[in-house]
Amino acid sequence: MTFENLLTSNDNGIFTITINRPDKLNALNKKTVSEIGEAVKGAKSDNSVKAIVITGSGPKSFVAGADIAEFVGLSTEQGKALAQAGQDVFRSIETCPKPIIAAVNGFALGGGCELAMACHLRIASDNAKFGQPEVNLGLIAGYGGTQRLIQYIGKSKAAELHMTGDMLNAEQALNLGLVNYVVSPDQLIAKCTEIIEKIKSKSPKAITGVINSVNAYYENGVDGFKAEIDEFGKCFATEDFKEGTSAFLEKRKPAFTGK
Ligand code: COA
Repeated sequence: MTFENLLTSNDNGIFTITINRPDKLNALNKKTVSEIGEAVKGAKSDNSVKAIVITGSGPKSFVAGADIAEFVGLSTEQGKALAQAGQDVFRSIETCPKPIIAAVNGFALGGGCELAMACHLRIASDNAKFGQPEVNLGLIAGYGGTQRLIQYIGKSKAAELHMTGDMLNAEQALNLGLVNYVVSPDQLIAKCTEIIEKIKSKSPKAITGVINSVNAYYENGVDGFKAEIDEFGKCFATEDFKEGTSAFLEKRKPAFTGK
């Protein structure tokens, strides 16, 4: 498989997907989201793959969010379709029968935080930063972030992060239970490999059973995912959203009016 925006490798049963748009801090445009879906689907059906690692290219960013440049001019319906497509791919990660680890090597913001949260485990380098800064754009999370952040850190802290757009550093993310381990950047892949080697020694069927059972605990959140799509879509009809995205692209502060 070759991709426009991903690098992939299969090394001793570990399939690594590297999101490769470093000049845009690996922002997820539509093409990249769909390529991640294809790569996971391919790895799922490849018997030589025992586990998957998802990471970002370059030293600075895992994924700095959905590609804001692609938001411009979208309607409510197009916004909802974008959220649905992202949620479908992220759900395919969450429900993949093989373990998927996010190796978070820097910014994991917006869709990047949501991608990391869709993985089964998260290992962060000590320069990682997590956040859902969509409110700065007059928007909310759309790729499952309102639902999954609650699952990891609880309703109160999740609401705060979504409302303020504040970032968590790696240590804070660890203390809140959002990530499993924090290591130095040069140890990131080694730590993922160490955990995968441990998992690989267990029954693959039992590991799939763990994934399915852990997911089942949260199945009642499914209406929340639909609510998120509707609310995400509504944002695209607001003046605030137009102002927020224009301000980001024009590199200035937004002036929101509440319209
Ligand atoms: N979508 C599109 N482009 C993005 C992006 C995104 N989510 N995040 C970063 N980029 C682009 C920048 O526009 C810039 O492109 P340019 O060099 O062509 O101008 C490039 O990536 C580097 O980003 P820059 O902002 O210059 O880096 P920085 O170190 O000053 O800041 C961040 C890093 C992550 C704090 C900042 O890029 C940012 O706030 N990104 C948006 C985060 C966000 O709101 N995510 C949620 C989106 S729904």
